[in-house]
Amino acid sequence: MLSDFVVEGSLPNRFRELWDEIAPVGRDAGSGGYLRYALTEPELELRTWFRSQADRRGLPVTEDGNGNLFAHWGDPETGDAVLTGSHFDSVPHGGAYDGPLGIVSAFLAVDELRAAGVAPSRPLVLAAFVEEEGARFGVPCLGSRLLSGALPAERAAGLRDAAGVSFAEALGDQPAGARPDLLGRFGAFVELHVEQGRALVEADEPVAVASAIWPHGRWRFDVVGEGNHAGTTRMADRRDPMLTYAFTVLAANKEARLRGAHATVGRVAVEPNATNAIPSKVTGWLDARAADPETLAGLVDAVRGKLAERARRDGTAVTVTEESVTPLVAFDGALAGRLATLLGAPVLPTGAGHDAGVLAAHLPTAMLFVRNPTGVSHSPAEAATDADCAAGVRALARVLEELTCR
Ligand code: GLV
Ligand code: MN
Ligand code: MN
Repeated sequence: MLSDFVVEGSLPNRFRELWDEIAPVGRDAGSGGYLRYALTEPELELRTWFRSQADRRGLPVTEDGNGNLFAHWGDPETGDAVLTGSHFDSVPHGGAYDGPLGIVSAFLAVDELRAAGVAPSRPLVLAAFVEEEGARFGVPCLGSRLLSGALPAERAAGLRDAAGVSFAEALGDQPAGARPDLLGRFGAFVELHVEQGRALVEADEPVAVASAIWPHGRWRFDVVGEGNHAGTTRMADRRDPMLTYAFTVLAANKEARLRGAHATVGRVAVEPNATNAIPSKVTGWLDARAADPETLAGLVDAVRGKLAERARRDGTAVTVTEESVTPLVAFDGALAGRLATLLGAPVLPTGAGHDAGVLAAHLPTAMLFVRNPTGVSHSPAEAATDADCAAGVRALARVLEELTCR
């Protein structure tokens, strides 16, 4: 059933209208960034918005039992569907575009195709994946990992947020886990995403096609020492985990620079977190990325070595836990080349993770990037002009037409 939804106005204006509907949801007035954690109130509001947009266009919505939403142009049971979409959730105080741009663009691309009288011969499915950033439950691309079976349902169910709420509790049920029946109905996936760097600014192009995602992962390191009084404990008598932590942060930065890789410690938890107490425990999270798996493994080994060496000097005890690892993703080269030729767009690798990286192991997958004038992401400074977002929608519509009509 097609709705009587009418498309009016220029594409940049229609983009702005739709964008303004979601712009206030989860925005922090202080930072101007977004707090849209998976399955919390702002993200639930965006999921309701997804359903209403699908409804306006006569696209029935289904769920996969893992928190991922799908809107269908065509019979949901028919195979060889082309999937497009992204995620609503954000990192703490994240930008507006990382994720939602891919979903808003998917709805507008459907409008473009319908306005042009395109009748796809393959079903088109729009997706909103849950917990892509891992900002609430710690594992990025949780929804696509569950759907594809990369993460067992039991492990996901037990992941807990900072308040102790489990993923199963937030979802309201045990996650369904791998859905090969559903995944098998998708013949291709295209995720449109804001660029998270300045390559398109430098190339003076609005849109690019992705070639690869660097291998990357998250390692938690717990450093346990001895809590004690800051004023009375002699320096020589201390077992201070903050020293081990601080040294490790500096070592990670140095080891990454030596290898042309990336290492970040952007999250830390201190116990008891008191100004006048030597901490009893410090936990840091290392985010490490490199162009190839060998370099990444070398970087993580080197950081582990420095951590262990420093812990011996400080009299602290350390444990390192691998929380998630995403291998190198080389997107389907033939598909990327075909889309780059179709769009006349450059082809770029990225160091950022995406649901497209997870699904690429299961079906031909491509990504489109939209220029970001600041080049900044995971921050309120993330940006894209309405004109470039419209160019992204046009590019996505052309790609979807190419894939669904040939
Ligand atoms: C997700 O955006 C990531 O790369 O961490
Ligand atoms: Mn992100
Ligand atoms: Mn993203």
